[in-house]
Amino acid sequence: MNLTTRYMGLTLKSPLVASASPVSHTLDGIRRLEDHGASAVVLFSLFEEQIEHDMAAMQHFMEFGTESFGEALSYFPAVDEFDVGPTQYLELLRKASEAVDIPIIASLNGTTERGWVDFALLMEAAGASAIELNLYYIPTEMTRTGAEAEQQCVDVVTRVKAAVEIPVAVKLGPYFSSFANMAHRLDRAGADALVLFNRFYQPDFDIEERAVVPSLSLSRPEEMRLPLLWIALLHKRLRASLAATTGVHGAVEAIKYLMAGADVVMSTSAVLEHGPSFFARLTADLSEWMQRKGYSSVGQLRGSMSQHNFPQATALVRANYIKTLDSFRPRR
Ligand SMILES: Cc1cc2nc3c(=O)[nH]c(=O)nc-3n(C[C@H](O)[C@H](O)[C@H](O)COP(=O)(O)O)c2cc1C
Repeated sequence: MNLTTRYMGLTLKSPLVASASPVSHTLDGIRRLEDHGASAVVLFSLFEEQIEHDMAAMQHFMEFGTESFGEALSYFPAVDEFDVGPTQYLELLRKASEAVDIPIIASLNGTTERGWVDFALLMEAAGASAIELNLYYIPTEMTRTGAEAEQQCVDVVTRVKAAVEIPVAVKLGPYFSSFANMAHRLDRAGADALVLFNRFYQPDFDIEERAVVPSLSLSRPEEMRLPLLWIALLHKRLRASLAATTGVHGAVEAIKYLMAGADVVMSTSAVLEHGPSFFARLTADLSEWMQRKGYSSVGQLRGSMSQHNFPQATALVRANYIKTLDSFRPRR
């Protein structure tokens, strides 16, 4: 079975990639992902706040879930053991790039123009095969327009692309007024891949303690629908590769994303639940399904249900929505 895949210019042995997660905090975790078949690893994000020794954002990610998922426990280093400074990040990146044969994609969340560009350059120098720009930003300023917030994202991509030579992916959320236009603008700014979608951190309230509770729950397969729709709508309409992230808990979700047109399919929650061996099962199940259905390469599968290729062009949009609503109408 030929699972070989091209993703933003990189040749991968399969389309199954480990997305940013605490598993990549250690060299051992990264090695285990490779051993179990992940075709590339996106490292956890370096936040610009960390560079300034503000650990809040990372602490939130790292505290998440350590009580709830026994299997995952060993992948979460204690916060005080983990010096999240850029030196350590770059050191891990350098070691990982040397230690494994699969591409290591560094992930960056900047706040200033200098932060984005300088750290992208350092990541490139440390051996990253590519950089994923984690455009995690919630525009809360009342006077900031949508156009300004969008332009800021485009500018980040333009500047980082002008500075580095390795491929640059952009991981972003769906909350833009016209997502197709936003994807198009990022594509034109030089993004080599779009990673759809970032899951935004939505804190909960503890009503007894009147406290804001960091809550980052693991995904469920149903959450894949929004990225699935957008990947199906964007397939063949951009120069950039498309990566699917959210809700991949087994081969069924991976196959759906590939049929929609994803070049690669990423997973974090399932790896935190089951450990890196999830990738071995995913690879075996994908190969078995493809063999059973008579596919000999992922290329044959890719995009077969995208809007571009699917005969019922309206099935993904408004017409089907009306039909679906109609199916709930009481019948006499
Ligand atoms: C504990 C945890 C830590 C994460 N850390 C990062 C991160 O550092 N950078 C990032 O871009 N995404 C991060 N993510 C998001 C994942 O990479 C992924 O996009 C998201 O969880 C959706 O995929 P999934 O359904 O396979 O979990 C994190 C997710 C979890 C659950």
